[in-house]
Amino acid sequence: MKVAVIGSGTMGNGIAHVFAQHGNAVALIDISKEALDKAMKTISGNLDRMVTKGSITADEKEKTLSNITLYTSIKEGVQGCSLAVEAATENLELKLKIFRELDSLCDSNTILATNTSSISVTKIGSVTQRPDKVIGMHFMNPVPVMKLVEVIRGYSTSDAVTEQVLDISRKLGKIPTEVNDYPGFIANRILMPMINEAIYSLYESVAGVEEIDTVMKLGMAHPMGPLQLADFIGLDVCLAILKVLHDGFGNPKYAPCPLLVNMVTAGNLGKKSGSGFYDYSGGGKELVVASNFRKDISVNH
Ligand SMILES: NC(=O)c1ccc[n+]([C@@H]2O[C@H](COP(=O)([O-])OP(=O)(O)OC[C@H]3O[C@@H](n4cnc5c(N)ncnc54)[C@H](O)[C@@H]3O)[C@@H](O)[C@H]2O)c1
Repeated sequence: MKVAVIGSGTMGNGIAHVFAQHGNAVALIDISKEALDKAMKTISGNLDRMVTKGSITADEKEKTLSNITLYTSIKEGVQGCSLAVEAATENLELKLKIFRELDSLCDSNTILATNTSSISVTKIGSVTQRPDKVIGMHFMNPVPVMKLVEVIRGYSTSDAVTEQVLDISRKLGKIPTEVNDYPGFIANRILMPMINEAIYSLYESVAGVEEIDTVMKLGMAHPMGPLQLADFIGLDVCLAILKVLHDGFGNPKYAPCPLLVNMVTAGNLGKKSGSGFYDYSGGGKELVVASNFRKDISVNH
């Protein structure tokens, strides 16, 4: 099968990697040549690690890489593809523009999937002439490692297309889970209120950063605490998803904590900016609580 992956950032390179590793011809498309080159380096490095671990052979690595072709033009990249998976920047107008383009360029049978974390699949489908063939394939980060694909049925997505996408996901060695298209789907509808509640607990001084994360790690067997996870996801991304839940349901229980809003406004976005609930200036290998939340320093939040 030929698959077009639109966007070669964090998610796009992982999605291209798994499709290529499972024998599909992949057209990896990005407007940025630098992003494409970086993606190929990341994929090659991740395949090297798999070879070292013995999970694939050096020959399989080469075959996987040779299955991927890079394009900076959507028009050229999508020629002859049976499935397009969009993983471009999370921005409604951009996604609508890309889907209008995909709809006009792809064969009428091509399934158009989006990896969006929070934008309505129904809304994306509504700008195409084929809303029955528009669906969410929500891969998790890092894609080659994480088993789940949240398969999101838009209001008009057909049963046949849903079955096909569930089947395609299984063939990638993933475990697909079908959910309906409502704000946050399932993953973020449950995860983000938990993260927001952890931030509220900190904001109300119920406990400190380490204490909150320790309770959830040791008490609930979560691999990392909610505040550390928020830093990894990016606090701006968490805020944007909470806004989608808040707007979509109109329920005050989803209102983002003012502390989260303040941190995003101040540019403390978590790991990617060097500071969030923890301080990553030392490389992030050791968990160090950010100075704003340290008890030995006057607290300023
Ligand atoms: N990062 C995560 O943990 C995660 C998890 C699940 C889903 N998602 C979703 O995946 C999507 C991509 O997220 P990401 O973290 O990989 O973003 P990213 O910023 O790492 O990558 C986005 C890429 O899209 C490219 N792009 C922008 N406009 C484009 C266009 N018109 N045509 C082609 N490429 C274009 C950019 O150049 C960039 O390389 C988003 O919808 C996001 O919500 C992200």
